Parts: sequence; C-alpha cells; structure tokens
Amino acid sequence: MKQLEISSQGGTATQSKTGTRMLAVNAAFLKDIKDDNQDLKKLLDQITPITRHQQTAANHWPELITLMSDLRDQLALHFSLEEAYGYFDDAIVSAPELSVTAEVLRSEHPSLFANIRDLADQVSEICSDRPDQVNDFIARFDAFRRDFEIHEESELKLILDSLDDDLGVGD
Ligand SMILES: [Fe+2]
Repeated sequence: MKQLEISSQGGTATQSKTGTRMLAVNAAFLKDIKDDNQDLKKLLDQITPITRHQQTAANHWPELITLMSDLRDQLALHFSLEEAYGYFDDAIVSAPELSVTAEVLRSEHPSLFANIRDLADQVSEICSDRPDQVNDFIARFDAFRRDFEIHEESELKLILDSLDDDLGVGD
C-alpha cells in the first residue's frame, strides 16, 4: 500500500499486505511527505545536469543560485516533516532495536542542513567566470548530494526494517 511510496522518490509504488495499519498511523505524513519528495526530486533533477560540468554550470549560474536557494528551503521543509510526523518514533515503537539507527539518522539532519545552507550562500558569492571556483563548488555540492543520498537510503531501509518487524510480529 501507500506507505512504501514515502521514500520511493518517484519510483514505482510497492504493494504490501501490511499496509492498512501503517496507513492509518501515517496518513497525514504520507500526503505531505509525498508532495515534498516530488518537489525535492524535481529540484535535484534540475540541479544535477547543470552541475555536471564547469562550463554548463557557469552558463546557468543565475539559475543555479535560485535553484540552490529553493533546495535549501525544500530541505528545511523535508527535515521538519520527517521530524514532525515522527516516522522515527514509529520505527522505535515497532522495533526498539532500530532506535539507535533512528537517532543516528535524525542527528544527521542539522549537519546536512548546515551544508546546504552554506552551499546556497556560497553559490551567490562565487565568480562564475572563475573555473577554479566553479569546480570547487561542484565538488562540494557532489559531496553533499552523496551524503544526502546515503542518508535517504538509510531512512528507507529503516522504514522497511520497521515494516518487516511488523510483519514478523503479525497483524
Ligand atoms: Fe532524514
């Protein structure tokens, strides 16, 4: 059912026989986080091709400044949604052994947000006709994107582990 769309990020929805209970718990969360994930994916899909090469980035610098600002704001919403709707808490309740993982993932939000905030600030200070500065920015953004992807994949795994635990207990 729909709970597996949480982190599908535009991928295919997966069916689950255990969906009813989780859907009831997280109905509001699902709608908001799905909208957020679509907006987030759209932004990353716009930024990624622009930041693939130095000259492409330089040619699109004003657009990139706007997109980085939008990404910072979207990630502020993204992290606050995850924390406000508390799927971490669901994971902890359903499987206490997952609580350490949940805490580690939640503790990553401030540093991830600090990184994207700094990148959004820096992009507006860089001279786009300086290839060294543009390349440095691209490298730092790539590092952020990898860290964020690992974080998101770990959250998806946490949710799936939690659902597996529910299935193991039996509904
Ligand atoms: Fe997160």
